[in-house]
Amino acid sequence: MPESAAIRVESLNVVRSETAVLRDVSFVVPAGQLLGLLGPSGSGKTTLMRALLGLQIVASGDTEILGDRAGAVALRNRVGYVSQSPAVYGDLTVMENLRYFASILDVARDDVDRVLADVDLERYARSLVSRLSGGERARVSLAIALLGAPELLILDEPTVGLDPVLRRDLWTLFARQASAGTTLLVSSHVMDEAARCERLLLLREGQILADLTPAELLERTRTSSYDAAFVALIEGST
Ligand SMILES: Nc1ncnc2c1ncn2[C@@H]1O[C@H](COP(=O)(O)OP(=O)(O)O)[C@@H](O)[C@H]1O
Ligand SMILES: [Mg+2]
Repeated sequence: MPESAAIRVESLNVVRSETAVLRDVSFVVPAGQLLGLLGPSGSGKTTLMRALLGLQIVASGDTEILGDRAGAVALRNRVGYVSQSPAVYGDLTVMENLRYFASILDVARDDVDRVLADVDLERYARSLVSRLSGGERARVSLAIALLGAPELLILDEPTVGLDPVLRRDLWTLFARQASAGTTLLVSSHVMDEAARCERLLLLREGQILADLTPAELLERTRTSSYDAAFVALIEGST
């Protein structure tokens, strides 16, 4: 294992309602990587993220985050998470939401200004969240996850439902965070988003189908689209 690994998962198995939902999942993520977790709906993306956060009962396997056991109290301020349906308060302004979460997380107040700038939302600081577009709201959730400058960000389908331009803008923000040294694990069921990632974990029916770079994926499958590549991988594996 590289010393600077942000995530280390070894032979992880999760069973939900007597069904194997994650099967023998193993991977290591070095610090500072922008890793895409791609797979169709129901493939186990959210379950895997929950396991990394220590929120998921696991049947077996080891999960180590930033050198600590998944879910360890010491990780609370070192890992940022945005769930698939993030909780932001529509009846509060952007600034009020951030201040509220900063106080819960016990983060210094001036960190609010930093994260607001990080997601380019300064001009919406006084806007009610309920008045924002989907893309702006996604950035508010991201800003909350950035409070306290976590070393690892786990983002569950942050671009779902957004138009292509807003998706691109969000991925640009993710890449910016990664180049500043943050490790990001970002899930999506939209295969095209593979292009935005440094590395891909392709998940299908709870198993890792491939662990490679976007270029390697296209090369290995001799395809030019990520959708076609995913299909080719599945057909090649059966
Ligand atoms: N609370 C639950 N109890 C039992 N099975 C669940 C539960 N939540 C999800 N599952 C099952 O686990 C599998 C993976 O789900 P999930 O991790 O949510 O996938 P994804 O995030 O990729 O859509 C699916 O087959 C789903 O039906
Ligand atoms: Mg999910």
